[in-house]
Amino acid sequence: MQAINASVGFDRKMWRQDIRGSLAHAAMLAHVGIIGADDEAAIRDGLAAIAAEIESGAFAWSEALEDVHMNIEARLTERIGEAGKRLHTARSRNDQVATDFRLWVRDAMDGLAAQMEDCIRAFVQRAEEHAGTIMPGFTHLQPAQPTTFGHHLLAYAEMLWRDRGRMLDARARLNADCPLGAAAMCGTGFPTDRHMTAAALGFDGPARNSLDAVGSRDFAMEFLAACAICATHLSRLAEEIVLWTNPAWGFVKLGDGLTTGSSIMPQKRNPDAAELVRGKTGRITGALVGLLTVVKGLALTYAKDLQEDKEGVFDAAESLTLCLAATAAMVRDMTPDVGRMAAAAGGGFSTATDLADWLVRELKLPFRDAHHVTGRLVAKAELMGVELTGLTIMEMREVEPRIHEGVFGVLSPAASVASRRSFGGTAPDNVRAQVAGWRERLA
Ligand code: ARG
Repeated sequence: MQAINASVGFDRKMWRQDIRGSLAHAAMLAHVGIIGADDEAAIRDGLAAIAAEIESGAFAWSEALEDVHMNIEARLTERIGEAGKRLHTARSRNDQVATDFRLWVRDAMDGLAAQMEDCIRAFVQRAEEHAGTIMPGFTHLQPAQPTTFGHHLLAYAEMLWRDRGRMLDARARLNADCPLGAAAMCGTGFPTDRHMTAAALGFDGPARNSLDAVGSRDFAMEFLAACAICATHLSRLAEEIVLWTNPAWGFVKLGDGLTTGSSIMPQKRNPDAAELVRGKTGRITGALVGLLTVVKGLALTYAKDLQEDKEGVFDAAESLTLCLAATAAMVRDMTPDVGRMAAAAGGGFSTATDLADWLVRELKLPFRDAHHVTGRLVAKAELMGVELTGLTIMEMREVEPRIHEGVFGVLSPAASVASRRSFGGTAPDNVRAQVAGWRERLA
């Protein structure tokens, strides 16, 4: 029974939150006269001493005492006697754990949102350096159109900015209601002041329904959903870093500090950090699915099933912290091979769209006809084993007699990216303007 029932092995992570909640509860009990001021003072001193014990590693955690709440309460009574036994008046472990866990998740949300901002700073910095660094852009992972490395990195800044927003939106909902004082499930007959404890713990107010207060965990689900989406975004960059650092691509190099060697193949520089960011996404998404499954079909209100809410959340928070730190480090560290990227950007007939657009502008062809003419020119170039820039004007005129020398002005990747000035487009000037916007947003 003890082995399946005890949670102290993992929920002791919430000891600070448990003490904070108890201090707020004791202050309220004294304020409304449920316990004496002398009891409250003894509780305060006792909890401070226990915090020091835990901090120093001297605290003896006991599995027999089940969870963090009973461990701390038992030690308090051991230290201060009678007063310690009064602390649990008008409260239950059901509202206590719901409060502690919210406080823990709230701190994790703040920490992760700050890390996301740091990651965005890294993207913005590198995007500024590489606003004009041309690279191939892909759809279907096939060469599509030339883009810039800066524009590519800022795409991730956008994703992470929404991830940060999602985290803060979830935080606002988590913080709306404090469960403390809902007691076991139906509230209490004691004249408590739940507004006071809610304010002391930084919540907007007390939870309006005591059954919901002790029985709901959607704040943790939302947290995990926000974590899983962010990890999913990071996994896409991680996959790109794995591709880019492969010598066959050779777009980017990572320093020795962020790669590993092989014990047998001396030439290897493995992008383990990127692989782990990609891989940890699995466990973070697993934690979300796990919690949804734990709560699915659970009749109101509290049931011990809900004790299974914590490990996945702790693990997801820690995993995402690592993923964000590793990503920011890789983004700051990576050295793009500007020459190889530019050369690759010129391959795969990547400026075919620019050619079709030129036919529309200069020869007034309808876009569908221009698309067809361009297709024939690409086929011809492919047959001859050259890029579009390798065709002579005579060869082009065999396909469309009105084509003139002006066409060469749009066939280079540099001309292609410079021309894409539409709002949100890849032109280096656009990227520089976006960098300036990001600097303001982050300030
Ligand atoms: N360890 C429990 C949990 O994490 C605390 C709440 C226990 N409540 C109860 N009625 N047994 O959920």
